[in-house]
Amino acid sequence: MSKIRAIITGVGAFVPEYILDNHELSQMVDTSDEWIMSRVGIRERHILKEKGEGASYMGERAVNQLLAKTKTSPDEIDLVICATVTPDMPFPATSSIIADKVGIKNAFHFDINAGCSGFIYTLITAAKFVESGQYKKVIVVGAEKMSAITDYTDRTTCPLFGDAGTAVLLEPTTEELGMMDYIARSDGMGRKHLYMKGGGSCYPSSYETVDNKMHYIYQEGQVVFKNAVSLMADVSVEIMERNNLTAKELAWLVPHQANLRIIDATANRMGLDPSKVMINIERYGNTTSATIPLCLWEWEKQLKKGDNIILSAFGAGFTWGTIYLKWAYDGDKI
Ligand code: UT7
Repeated sequence: MSKIRAIITGVGAFVPEYILDNHELSQMVDTSDEWIMSRVGIRERHILKEKGEGASYMGERAVNQLLAKTKTSPDEIDLVICATVTPDMPFPATSSIIADKVGIKNAFHFDINAGCSGFIYTLITAAKFVESGQYKKVIVVGAEKMSAITDYTDRTTCPLFGDAGTAVLLEPTTEELGMMDYIARSDGMGRKHLYMKGGGSCYPSSYETVDNKMHYIYQEGQVVFKNAVSLMADVSVEIMERNNLTAKELAWLVPHQANLRIIDATANRMGLDPSKVMINIERYGNTTSATIPLCLWEWEKQLKKGDNIILSAFGAGFTWGTIYLKWAYDGDKI
């Protein structure tokens, strides 16, 4: 019997209307468009302003779009996994909230917290359920309201992040398509360099945690940068080599969008022409687990069945990883 593989059969996304550009940011903190563009490559990011709404608001909209595009009924969905570091609340899982809002009744759901590698880890996990033969329609969501944990008085982190919700549908095939290979890695030593300390069981929310700004992202940018540059490129090159893929045979690199310089370094190490790299960091910033699917959503029209695509990410944990996909369909599903 031929092997069952997991293919992406559609992509949905939602970005909030409000755009926070570098001009507005430079009125909030001591920064400039010139600094942010030259050091990071971000010009603007979308921010969810709706009061009392979180990651599920955007995830719900992305899933509804995905279901419409793929002509799938909510009843057909077997499993929903949501990658997020900004869940609506500590529990229940944001995936359960999204499933309920969308009307998905015949599935089980859980969340995965893997920082900026969230989409990679979640796609790998979801693919395993599909490859088992037991699950036919699995939704992977990447939804983040990074603005909820960003300190807009800290110029070293506030230009970096944006909000978005994304979703992809995974289905089985016996063709030589879909997830062909993956590498996933973690190193808990990295936890010291990128975290949010408050609001968990060590430091439950209190006046003290709020006064000490413990509910915001803490990042040692340079340490994270150095690790991201070397480790994201290492796994991207390793997956090419072990699948005998040349740069010429690769159609696309879809990198996590944290810093244009990290993306360029990864593409260089892979020997890739810049025209084969999906980059939209300038308009969305770092939306954590939503960056990679947001690229797939924007580039969907240009993708062709059989395209060799590598997805790569690095993030809090540290976590990092890469997936080699053979794309399963031609063009946009709308
Ligand atoms: O996705 C999750 C993983 N995260 C990442 O991959 C992010 C990795 N890190 C980075 O992308 C970069 O380290 C940053 C974009 C966060 C920072 O860029 P950098 O080139 O590493 O800057 P730096 O931290 O070395 O700071 C250089 C200078 C400092 O000034 P002094 O000490 O040299 O006078 C900073 O205070 O730039 C200053 N600076 C700023 N200046 C204007 C830091 N942030 C800003 C700012 N505007 N927004």
